[in-house]
Amino acid sequence: MSHWLIAGASRGIGLEAARQLAARGERVTASVRSAAGLAALKAAAPQANTLQFDVRDELAIRAAAEQVLDPIDVLIANAGAYGPQRQSSLDMDFEGALDLLSVNTLGPLRVVQAFLPLVKRSARPRIIMMTSRLGSMSLDGTSNVAYRVSKAGLNKIAQCLAADLKDDGVVVVAMHPGRVRTEMGGPNATLDVGDSVAGIIQIAESLTLADTRRYLDYRGEDIPW
Ligand SMILES: NC(=O)c1ccc[n+]([C@@H]2O[C@H](COP(=O)([O-])OP(=O)(O)OC[C@H]3O[C@@H](n4cnc5c(N)ncnc54)[C@H](OP(=O)(O)O)[C@@H]3O)[C@@H](O)[C@H]2O)c1
Repeated sequence: MSHWLIAGASRGIGLEAARQLAARGERVTASVRSAAGLAALKAAAPQANTLQFDVRDELAIRAAAEQVLDPIDVLIANAGAYGPQRQSSLDMDFEGALDLLSVNTLGPLRVVQAFLPLVKRSARPRIIMMTSRLGSMSLDGTSNVAYRVSKAGLNKIAQCLAADLKDDGVVVVAMHPGRVRTEMGGPNATLDVGDSVAGIIQIAESLTLADTRRYLDYRGEDIPW
């Protein structure tokens, strides 16, 4: 049995990860940021320990981390948003884009830094940064510029964390969950949330230090940075 921390588990991929892991008897600590999110998490994964914070709020994250006493084996920094309506290279909602960077790029780093002492105490520590294929600098397309930039920035953070934590034996990967039917992915996305999460969990369980600094999808296939 491992101890998993899932940040952003009120719905979608994070909620399904908490549900699947709790159902098979893993230890789950999961965070939400609202009462409605807490109710959804408790219904789906009644055994999970719950925390409450917004990933933009460093103090709240650090206070939540103080409530966790046991080592964390797998940290999944999952919380993310899609950003403002206007986010093309020719017409940008700059305030909305800045807020998105705080959620998608710096949010996962706030979570990692706050919980890192607990992660380092694991015998087999792993960190999964939930990014997107849209963060790849190699991918064409110009839609959703703020989202792409936020995930490209997160990818760079994942690379830096992987290098800075290698000597501590902490594995860090950037994970693309596929195009998943959630509120973010929409009803026409190709992948069922259960299948995406099953793949992510399988990969998380198989990760070794040889995998650190990989950018991969839920099937384990590498994506060009
Ligand atoms: N679905 C896809 O096709 C897809 C593809 C590529 C990457 N991803 C990535 O996968 C992750 C999960 O996506 P999803 O499809 O499950 O999205 P989702 O259904 O929209 O869920 C997003 C989750 O993030 C939480 N969240 C958003 N902003 C937050 C904040 N400021 N503080 C704390 N929690 C916050 C939400 O909580 P609330 O309920 O409180 O808002 C919710 O739990 C995201 O990082 C996303 O970018 C998804």
